[in-house]
Amino acid sequence: MNEITIIAPDDWHLHFRDGDLLKETVPATARCFKRAIVMPNLVPPVINASMAEEYKQRILQVLPVNSSFEPLMTIYLTNQTTSQDIIQAKQSGVTAAKLYPAGATTNSDAAVSQLDALYPVFETMSEQEMPLLIHGEVTEQHIDIFDREKIFIDQKLSKIVENFPQLKIVFEHITTKEAADFVLQASDRVAATITPQHLMLNRNDLLVGGIRPHNFCLPVLKRNIHQEALRQAVIAGTNKFFLGTDSAPHEKHKKESSCGCAGCYSAWSAIELYAQVFEELNALDKLEAFASTNGPDFYQLPRNKSTITLIKQDWIIPSDIKLPNGEFIVPFFAGETVKWQLKNK
Ligand code: DOR
Ligand code: ZN
Repeated sequence: MNEITIIAPDDWHLHFRDGDLLKETVPATARCFKRAIVMPNLVPPVINASMAEEYKQRILQVLPVNSSFEPLMTIYLTNQTTSQDIIQAKQSGVTAAKLYPAGATTNSDAAVSQLDALYPVFETMSEQEMPLLIHGEVTEQHIDIFDREKIFIDQKLSKIVENFPQLKIVFEHITTKEAADFVLQASDRVAATITPQHLMLNRNDLLVGGIRPHNFCLPVLKRNIHQEALRQAVIAGTNKFFLGTDSAPHEKHKKESSCGCAGCYSAWSAIELYAQVFEELNALDKLEAFASTNGPDFYQLPRNKSTITLIKQDWIIPSDIKLPNGEFIVPFFAGETVKWQLKNK
């Protein structure tokens, strides 16, 4: 197949950041995605309806002319979040709330330390039909980083799912076979996003032949059996898995550092890379469900009306991208060849 046309996709998990960086990140995503769930881990985090609305306006301001892209806003749960915060957020059009266990990743210091204390908030979210988006890793120092997702499932996630059977939960950027299996056996109110990097890479791509800081993200890449399980999950024909790039820019010098930041900036190539993975799996016919219908169906939003076309044509991802402030970002898969290209209308 040399060309594929699908319903326009959405990105159900990404990081736009703020300020001048929006001029880079928002057009990059809006070039092919119609909507995106915008993560709230700014400094300070987006913790309530008014902050989410202000952030949304800053995003809309940098949209290319004639773009119909719609940012779907989220709030960041903290130890101080109240049921009232959830009700107000819902009323003002916030789509979902994000749970970061404290210390789990970039800008998560303000996040939740005691999950049980948030149960009244989860109850309200369930009543309000506001999805709970979860970064699913425990953060205790003594727990091996490669085990943190599995232990989160066993110790935390299974309890939340059991206690709130009506609450919609998205297990974000899953990285393990255990996570894929957990989502598959759970009710239809539990789904998961999967990133391009976790489908394309495993921990060898992070560590063999030298440390590759641009492949470092959280949850960290796992061993190849997990990568394979995720690849099988997206083509299994279930509607529980959908596209979430976790595109997360960090300036080059902050990644190429003695203590490098976690995050892969994939917005410029994500849909093409997903297409490449689905083609490798001989399952291009499953791309549309993953990229364009499972997500809106889960969130009970309309599917997009327009389409995009991808053509089979090699191109090379640039080695870096210059930011408005003069700094550089190294995009995910920089310098590598991608086999699919978005056809501009
Ligand atoms: O690698 C990651 N980067 N994982 C996250 O969960 C957060 C993100 C970021 O904000 O940089
Ligand atoms: Zn993320």
